[in-house]
Amino acid sequence: MSLITSPESILDITVAAMQSTEDQRLKSLIVSLTKHLHQFVLENQLTELEFERALQFIVGIGQATGANTNEVVLAADILGVSSLVSTINNLDLDGGSYAALLGPFWRKNAPLCAWGENISRTDLGGQAMEVRGRIMDEFKRPVAGAIVDVWHSSPVGFYENQDEHQEDMNLRGRFQTNADGEFFFTSIRPAGYPVPTNGPCGELLRAQKRHPNRPAHIHFMISKPGYKVLITQVFDSTDQNLESDPVFGVSKQLVGEYLTDAATGICKLNHSFLLQAGEMVFPAPPIP
Ligand code: BEZ
Ligand code: FE
Repeated sequence: MSLITSPESILDITVAAMQSTEDQRLKSLIVSLTKHLHQFVLENQLTELEFERALQFIVGIGQATGANTNEVVLAADILGVSSLVSTINNLDLDGGSYAALLGPFWRKNAPLCAWGENISRTDLGGQAMEVRGRIMDEFKRPVAGAIVDVWHSSPVGFYENQDEHQEDMNLRGRFQTNADGEFFFTSIRPAGYPVPTNGPCGELLRAQKRHPNRPAHIHFMISKPGYKVLITQVFDSTDQNLESDPVFGVSKQLVGEYLTDAATGICKLNHSFLLQAGEMVFPAPPIP
């Protein structure tokens, strides 16, 4: 093993120490990360105080993470990294992406619902909403028997697990597509909401003069054996924060037309999704 002769020499020594890693993917990922970190320090001539501050931030996101919050995920989100990982792993044929962040609020085992069932089980007021769509494969053929798992916030922007006024699993449900690949559910129109701002990520957003408000959206997780699980969100085209989402989740394909029917006052959304062939692998639920 060589000894340090210059700032730059530390990288060579560090990389040399990693050469026996058996897992080749682990080896190349950690070597590459180390190179980028060293380059970052050199390029910015990081001071000791700045380094200490950076380490405090990382300790802080760990400490702010608990049973109902995940500040580590939030940090990846507000730096655009979660969206980047989701996008490069879910490119469609046009080079866009129909996938979006899972977010911290998905819960496994939402109630299995009948066609058209209302998932607004606690009376919260708000605008009635009807959501229809079709699930298709890459050849635009309908996918029957797919499970469409949906969850969204209330008309004042709270998920059920953040709000003592909502019953367990309110505004969550799983629907099965019919023979034509279609699904239909009813609910109430969701509002946008702020990402948590009481931890280190909130402090960073304030320092950067960024607002924390996500545009209103509905989450979808669509699955069927033989297809990759599609995790996505459909955003409200009328929301003023579409272009300033704090977690960079909005792509053109994911802006949905939330149209108010003049006769009934009901908000109607119609949105279709494509599934790619592949292995059906579910994510770990961020909250129980
Ligand atoms: C969400 O869409 O639920 C979400 C995503 C990232 C951070 C916070 C919330
Ligand atoms: Fe959300």
